[in-house]
Amino acid sequence: MSKKILLSGVKPTGRPHIGNYFGAMRQFVGLQNEYDCYFMIADYHGLNFVQKGAEMRDNIIDLAIDYLAIGLDPKRSVIFKQSDVPAHTELAWIFDTITTMPYLERAHAFKDAEAKDKEISVGTFNYPMLMAADILLYDTDVVPVGQDQKQHIEYARDTAQKFNNIFGQGQDTFKLPKDLIIESVKTVPGIDGRKMSKSYGNDISLFASDEEIRKKAMAIVTDSSGGVPENVRAIHELIRDKEYLDRLYTEKAGKYKDLKEALAKDLQDFIRPMRERREKLAKNRSKIIKMIEKGGKKARKAAEKKMAIVKQNIGVTLN
Ligand code: ADP
Ligand code: TRP
Repeated sequence: MSKKILLSGVKPTGRPHIGNYFGAMRQFVGLQNEYDCYFMIADYHGLNFVQKGAEMRDNIIDLAIDYLAIGLDPKRSVIFKQSDVPAHTELAWIFDTITTMPYLERAHAFKDAEAKDKEISVGTFNYPMLMAADILLYDTDVVPVGQDQKQHIEYARDTAQKFNNIFGQGQDTFKLPKDLIIESVKTVPGIDGRKMSKSYGNDISLFASDEEIRKKAMAIVTDSSGGVPENVRAIHELIRDKEYLDRLYTEKAGKYKDLKEALAKDLQDFIRPMRERREKLAKNRSKIIKMIEKGGKKARKAAEKKMAIVKQNIGVTLN
């Protein structure tokens, strides 16, 4: 029996942080045996944020290296970039034609952007349709992500259903995907207690140096009430079990500096091996580029098969 299909993606918009890792990327690694996996570098989604060619190019290669450094295996899984598979943007257009403006206006990401910006690109508005195409092209069963992406997966399900209803020809074209969100890490907090995010500047980089980790740990916002610095403990819970932490935080109650130092050490020990693996991988840029090209070929093959059915069903294929 063939395995179920998993697909997920990360935007190449700069260094991933431990929120990305614990919320989503770590799940990718463990699920490689159980599923046929597609791990995408969402460069066309990233284009809404990065609009300098040289920076985009470096970010794409960096993210591919990050994927390998955390333990994704290109022999078992397809690692590819979105722009190498034209079917993604092609299918996003087709979805646009069956989607209404008010429906997209309800997207959280759009509403947040609208609250901050006066001018929103059409690409930002349309973001969920490209993501629906990413997911639906591969008959994806599960999509491991953090909580902030949950609504996008609902959009993909709705869009699949809508397409199936309109163009069904008696048979479903698209499978309905499910999100895979782990409750305990669905929203990893940053050093100020809000959701960890690059844009808030409250993140700890996944491949940070020992010094950077220490600085960030010491800068964690703590209030002066009670003995337990909640924001320190919340990050500590990502890497240590409850019994250990109960003991440590009781023993060191009120000693915030000691607790921050303990967290810094634990984070350093956790991150160091991945950072060192990353440093080695980064030395062979041309090998990384070849790997991305190879993944693109495999993804294209699967996506083209689905696109042929889509085009047949919508009636643009003439025989
Ligand atoms: P970012 O959100 O940092 O710009 P991406 O959008 O590419 O980066 O996110 C990659 C993955 O990381 C997504 O599955 C997203 O849900 C997850 N993620 C991002 N921030 C967090 C967080 N603070 N907690 C849990 N998961 C997160
Ligand atoms: N939108 C996702 C994010 O911001 C990235 C992404 C793009 C994605 N396409 C995807 C995630 C398909 C899962 C599946 O994090």
